[in-house]
Amino acid sequence: MLTQSDGEAFAKRIKSDVFTLLSKVIDPELGRSVTDLGMITDIEVEPAGFASGEANDLGKPIFDVTVYVELTIEGCPLTATISERINQVLTSYQQAILRPRQEVSSMSQDKLSSLVDQLKAERRANPFTKASSKTRVFAVASGKGGVGKSSVAANLAATFAALGYDTAAIDADIYGFSLPGLFGVHTQPTNLNGMLMPITAWGVKLISIGMFAGAERAILWRGPRLQRSLEQFLSDVWWGEPDVLILDLAPGTGDMAISVAQALPNAEMVIVTTPQPSASDVAVRSGLVALQVPTRVRGVVENMSWYDHNDERLRIFGQGGGQRVSDQLSQALGYSVPLLAQLPLEPPIRTIGEGGRPAVLQENGDLDSGSLTQQFVKLAHDLLAA
Ligand SMILES: Nc1ncnc2c1ncn2[C@@H]1O[C@H](COP(=O)(O)OP(=O)(O)OP(=O)(O)O)[C@@H](O)[C@H]1O
Ligand SMILES: [Mg+2]
Repeated sequence: MLTQSDGEAFAKRIKSDVFTLLSKVIDPELGRSVTDLGMITDIEVEPAGFASGEANDLGKPIFDVTVYVELTIEGCPLTATISERINQVLTSYQQAILRPRQEVSSMSQDKLSSLVDQLKAERRANPFTKASSKTRVFAVASGKGGVGKSSVAANLAATFAALGYDTAAIDADIYGFSLPGLFGVHTQPTNLNGMLMPITAWGVKLISIGMFAGAERAILWRGPRLQRSLEQFLSDVWWGEPDVLILDLAPGTGDMAISVAQALPNAEMVIVTTPQPSASDVAVRSGLVALQVPTRVRGVVENMSWYDHNDERLRIFGQGGGQRVSDQLSQALGYSVPLLAQLPLEPPIRTIGEGGRPAVLQENGDLDSGSLTQQFVKLAHDLLAA
């Protein structure tokens, strides 16, 4: 028979067990446990009798457990997820039956500021310049506009994520942003005291100027300076430590790539071109930026290489552009810049993309089994291989 003091001792033990279990509940935005973040302010455990057991045997003891949760911001969109995870932990407890209750409030402004300061200090500005950074950064560039950079960047990012890599993507094209549309994102990032949470869509942590409404856009972006805007994306957004970071650059041959190389010394460039000479000439120039800044051009992707129509392969935009860019850059840079992929012109790339889903993914978020997806999987592996 459980005496009152046994019951109290048991309740104490449950309290400490619950705290330990909650240390495994991760805040989906910050990627840290709710206990680390100071979100659990108290746990109350009250005995509430016994479950009915077999014959003469008493069943498991029952306790009412109240968890006091302080959210980082009021009305945080992920409140339901956090609550659910906390309840799951409580109901999975083996030694007793825990009846979970939660008292939810939001952090005081002071507590929140010191939490954000602490997170920022740990992260030290742009996290990707640290020598210990494990993040592979791939910047998708082209000379000419409209050749498919954003489509390649979006599908590549979605592929990495679906393959299980922790993947982030930055829409560095601040005037012609397109990643929110391609990932179907219509919400604004959470702003935690000046630190922005990227929005996860199709498994990719994303940030784009296109996610901010007019006024906020102006506040966030003081002046249309490219360098500054990229730095803000890198340092004011809570990225955690992704395996892969993809940047979708604006078209052009100069400023942007230089900004990227300065802000991200580890960035590796992927040049996208279409097959015709006019596109490939400019693409070569965009790659030559690697002569001025310490960035490595990893390879070339030729997009819209052909269109398969009734068993006939139509080369609508001519051919040879990708190979030409590869040859010329290899020669100019003094190392191999391979032609990594030739992607067909396929209307679904556009139609599915415009619908808010990268075409390599099925509706359930798994990789599709088509040949286009296989090419993206190969591209992803090739990029990580070297
Ligand atoms: N392989 C492809 N097959 C069919 N449509 C494609 C393909 N690649 C890109 N597109 C379509 O071509 C258009 C331009 O592509 P995208 O926006 O990816 O190019 P971009 O290089 O990022 O352009 P910008 O220079 O404006 O940023 C889009 O409508 C896109 O859906
Ligand atoms: Mg684009």
